[in-house]
Amino acid sequence: TTERSLVLVKPDGFARGLTGEVLRRIEAKGYRLVALQVLTPDLDRLHVHYEEHVGKPFFEPLCEFMSSGPVTAVVIEGERCIEGFRALAGATDPTAALPGTIRGDLGRDWGRKVQENIVHGSDSPESAAREIGIWFPEL
Ligand code: CMP
Repeated sequence: TTERSLVLVKPDGFARGLTGEVLRRIEAKGYRLVALQVLTPDLDRLHVHYEEHVGKPFFEPLCEFMSSGPVTAVVIEGERCIEGFRALAGATDPTAALPGTIRGDLGRDWGRKVQENIVHGSDSPESAAREIGIWFPEL
């Protein structure tokens, strides 16, 4: 089935000029770009986006990091693109992420409280629908 997923190029990826590289990999894989916006998200939006992590030690540092500068929010579309983008992104920890993946090729640990790992991707169809509603209510 054709799916949609919500991808974020996080502030570290934006600041390092990796937005185009991430989009290139998404397009090279054959997924379509449905919507795209550059914005600096406020904490209210991030608290909703990351609600499943409320109470975890990295929750507030994560939201602070994500609101620290511009991000690029993207809706992608394609057969099984939710699982497919997560495979492109690689493991959450950029040190452990395999070479060939976005995080494995381009990310590393910078010794900060939050894993700065360049991209976010929805982890299930339910999350994708919820997250697309947060970032692109018009869709
Ligand atoms: P993301 O896919 O956006 O979902 C939650 C984010 O929290 C994750 O990427 C990382 O940026 C961050 N994260 C997840 N686990 C940890 C952890 N153990 N310590 C610090 N940050 C984390």
